[in-house]
Amino acid sequence: MMPYIRPAEDKDLKNIEYICRMTAGPEARKREDVGKKIALTYSTYYARAEQETSFVLDDEGKAVGYILCAPDFTRYIKDYRKNEVKKLWGIEKKQSIIAYFLPLGYLPFKNKYPAHLHIDLLDEYQGKGYGSQMMKTLLAKLKEMKLPGVMLIVDKDNEGAQRFYKRAGFRKIASAFGGVVMARKL
Ligand SMILES: CC(C)(COP(=O)(O)OP(=O)(O)OC[C@H]1O[C@@H](n2cnc3c(N)ncnc32)[C@H](O)[C@@H]1OP(=O)(O)O)[C@@H](O)C(=O)NCCC(=O)NCCS
Repeated sequence: MMPYIRPAEDKDLKNIEYICRMTAGPEARKREDVGKKIALTYSTYYARAEQETSFVLDDEGKAVGYILCAPDFTRYIKDYRKNEVKKLWGIEKKQSIIAYFLPLGYLPFKNKYPAHLHIDLLDEYQGKGYGSQMMKTLLAKLKEMKLPGVMLIVDKDNEGAQRFYKRAGFRKIASAFGGVVMARKL
């Protein structure tokens, strides 16, 4: 069967963390411990607590890509700090502090764009249109929920991803933490 998009489930957590690790750069790829900290910072919260607005690309029963979304900033910052940030504190204080302040990049825009997202695909699934399909699926869901807008933060040097987001209707609205904040209305 061809890979297809479905809502995220509890059983996807490990694979979602793996995808996050494998798309987070050479250090995370090489070292499992670094990968775990990155995954806890950027993906675990959504896989655990935001399954209604998070989707995976499923190939033979395994998640090989994801689009993860928190539709409500206030719920996100509370729950994420109480769980993932706290867990990171027991692993590495420095990463926990980075994670604690991470939501502040979104904070100024939370009324106009209450939702934010992360999207990643394993290498061999990139450039085949799956990212665009996952984005369509999420945007339809957020429209159905009558949310006014959605945003994301992308590394300032990740030009390929910025092109991808532009094509999906996102525009740059600010810069934060070496990243670019991009957003679109729904
Ligand atoms: C960015 C990403 C989600 C896009 O999904 P995708 O399925 O590869 O994209 P599509 O096939 O639907 O569209 C292709 C477009 O995506 C962009 N793109 C970004 N990274 C790409 C990659 N590694 N391979 C191919 N296209 C990529 C390009 O703009 C490309 O258009 P182009 O052919 O005109 O250059 C995916 O490539 C990915 O996971 N990349 C690595 C991790 C990453 O950068 N995530 C975003 C972090 S903010």
